[in-house]
Amino acid sequence: MKMFGSIGTRSLLFGVHQFLWHPLTVWLAWKELYGNPSWKETVCIALHDMGYWGKKSMDGSDGVRHPEAGAELVGRMFGEEYRQLVLGHSRSYAKLHGIDPSKLCWADKLSIKYERWWLYLPRAWASGELKEYRAVADHKRFVDKNESNRKWFEKLKEDMERQSKEETRKQHCIKSIKNTVGAKQVPVRL
Ligand SMILES: [Fe+2]
Ligand SMILES: [Fe+2]
Repeated sequence: MKMFGSIGTRSLLFGVHQFLWHPLTVWLAWKELYGNPSWKETVCIALHDMGYWGKKSMDGSDGVRHPEAGAELVGRMFGEEYRQLVLGHSRSYAKLHGIDPSKLCWADKLSIKYERWWLYLPRAWASGELKEYRAVADHKRFVDKNESNRKWFEKLKEDMERQSKEETRKQHCIKSIKNTVGAKQVPVRL
């Protein structure tokens, strides 16, 4: 499959980040978490992973910078707020640059909910991503390399769904606390 280019390019063409299917699942996840995205947010969703093009690794030193290309483009079109939305979609990128993960990060994580193993695993295998993801999962002691790919996928799905729901709930709480603190105090009559 190497004739199709680097692992990042293959991921966009027919792998996990397939350029039509992956944004569609992220769009659905966004809708589930926050309601319908605006058209500008939809463009951000469509372009957020375009920077994988030509990347030689998914999570290595070049792959980790994949949010930059999409962020640059939407930043030029719609401004800084949208640039940050795309830059912050990757937790590792956000951590590396000391920025907060954006709303797009949690929609991106939840998007796996809309995947099925029989659609996801063949893509991950064909692009070569599966090997890299399994090695990382084994290294982090997330899923042992001797476990089946299906088991790895189901565990990943469970973990991503839990994380995205927890994080959005947390952010919702922070927002309502801020609103409460800023709200006018109503005197209580006894
Ligand atoms: Fe990404
Ligand atoms: Fe993504």
